[in-house]
Amino acid sequence: MSKLARKDFHSTLLPDVADFDCGDAEGAWCVEVSEWIRDPDGALLSMARRKTKVWLYCLPDGRLVGYGSLGTSKWEWPEFGSPLSTLFHIPFFGVAQHFRGKPDGEGEVRYSRQIMEDLIAEARAWPAGRLVTPVVTLYVDERNESAMKFYRKCGFRDFREKRLPSDTTPGKFNLGMVLPL
Ligand SMILES: CC(C)(COP(=O)(O)OP(=O)(O)OC[C@H]1O[C@@H](n2cnc3c(N)ncnc32)[C@H](O)[C@@H]1OP(=O)(O)O)[C@@H](O)C(=O)NCCC(=O)NCCS
Repeated sequence: MSKLARKDFHSTLLPDVADFDCGDAEGAWCVEVSEWIRDPDGALLSMARRKTKVWLYCLPDGRLVGYGSLGTSKWEWPEFGSPLSTLFHIPFFGVAQHFRGKPDGEGEVRYSRQIMEDLIAEARAWPAGRLVTPVVTLYVDERNESAMKFYRKCGFRDFREKRLPSDTTPGKFNLGMVLPL
């Protein structure tokens, strides 16, 4: 199994992500995930405005496998309707099309799993002074079957549905998922 190496993402690495592609066979969300890292108004803007941390994950030979991101977000927690709490949040997460489901084998050998485990480790190591409730959250398009399957395998559970203001597609909902640390 190849262990992925992690790089902090910044503007000088834009050429490295220019060809990053999650594919588009399953739906528009794959295109959105590819564009977020390639477009200066995506990851870089979120890093500047919202202090989101973003990392690239590469094979020992330098090939880019995927990226992950981690920040915080205010959610009604522990139940829908509770007061807002600051929780960890993964805004975007993606593995390049040709590395999905790779390498063969179950669980933690998968690249996607290595990236998720690293994001969870980052959340656990968050500086104690910056009070964040130890729960990792994310939203996933409810039509994105493979991502929901993947997140559930990682231990996330369904939390609530939300229609984002940017959603214009009829019938489109984003499912909030949570992983208490
Ligand atoms: C979500 C994501 C990171 C999961 O990574 P992954 O490597 O596909 O994860 P897994 O190998 O555990 O696969 C999860 C499921 O996806 C499907 N899948 C696996 N490889 C696939 C491929 N190459 N093409 C299509 N579907 C695939 C399978 O149903 C698999 O479940 P199974 O292993 O029980 O058969 C990845 O699918 C991805 O980057 N998707 C595109 C971007 C995206 O949707 N990001 C999340 C936004 S919230």
